[in-house]
Amino acid sequence: MAMTGVLRPGHAQVRVLNLEESVRFYRDVLGLVETGRDAQGRVYFKCWDERDHSSYVIREADSAGLDFFAFKVLDKATLEKLDADLQAYGLKTERIPAGEMLATGERVRFELPSGHLMELYAEKTAVGNGLGVVNPAPWGREREHGIGPVRLDHALLYGPNVAEVQKIFTEVLGFYLVERVLTPDGENNAAIWLSCSHKVHDIAFAEYPEKGKLHHCSFLMETWEQVLRAGDIMSMNKVAVDIGPTRHGVTRGCTIYAWDPSGNRFETFMGGYQPYPDNTEPLTWTFDNFGQGLDYPQRKLHETFLTVVT
Ligand SMILES: [Fe+2]
Repeated sequence: MAMTGVLRPGHAQVRVLNLEESVRFYRDVLGLVETGRDAQGRVYFKCWDERDHSSYVIREADSAGLDFFAFKVLDKATLEKLDADLQAYGLKTERIPAGEMLATGERVRFELPSGHLMELYAEKTAVGNGLGVVNPAPWGREREHGIGPVRLDHALLYGPNVAEVQKIFTEVLGFYLVERVLTPDGENNAAIWLSCSHKVHDIAFAEYPEKGKLHHCSFLMETWEQVLRAGDIMSMNKVAVDIGPTRHGVTRGCTIYAWDPSGNRFETFMGGYQPYPDNTEPLTWTFDNFGQGLDYPQRKLHETFLTVVT
C-alpha cells in the first residue's frame, strides 16, 4: 500500500447554539446522514459516500466554534508511533479511551501552538454508504437529500504560530506544503495549505491573533454543477452565504462559503489539482495578490474571509 501514516481528515466536532435547529440544518439542508446520538447529547453525522460511522459531530454550547479536528491513521501501530513522535518532538499528548465517541477507537489528542485540539485515531466502525460492495450503484437516495456532499474534505483554521504548526505537520505527521500566502513583507507565511495525501489540501491554517478559531469545515461535491445546486438549496433555505459560487486561485477549487445557523462557516467545494509529496516547490501567492487567490474571477479579498471566524 502506498498510503501510510496519516490517511485523511476523520472527524470534526463543532459547537452549535441550538441543537435541534442545527440537526435540521445539517441533516435536511446540507444533507448529511445522521448516524447516532450519545449520552453527552452529541449528534453524529456522515456524508453519504463515507463508509465510516461519522465525520461531523455537533454539540450544543453557549458559543460556536471547533472543539477538535481529527485525522484517521493507517492502523494502531501507526497511532502508537505518531504518539511517540509527537512526544519526542516536545508536544504533550493525551489518550481518549475507545468508545468516548460513538463507534470510535482510542484517540491521541494534542494541542497545536495555534490553540487547536487535534486528534489521531486508527479505528472507527465502518457502516458503509448504503450501496453495498457487490455491484454497487454509483449513488443512492442519500446523495439527493439536501446538498448531499461526498465527504468531509478539509478544514481551514485560524490561530497564531502558523510557522510552528507547519513544522509539526511536515516534520512529525508526514504532511507537505502545497500552497502558501506570504505575509505583506514577504518574509513569512500568512496562510498554509497542507496535504497528507494527493489531495490539494487536507488541512489549512492562517495566522490570526486569537487561538483555536474555526474558519470553515469543507465538504466535497462531485461536480461544479453540484456546487451550483448547493447554492440553489442554500437560497431556497435562506442560508447565509459568504462567498461564491466562484473559484479559488489557491488550490483551484470551486467553492461556496456559507454559515450554519450558529455562524460556523462551512464550504461546499469541488476540484483542485492532484499534488504528490515530491511537490518540492509549493505554489506561492503574494499578499497583495491574495484577492485572486481567494476569488479568482472577482480578484477580491473579501473582508469576511479575514475577519469572521468562530
Ligand atoms: Fe476550503
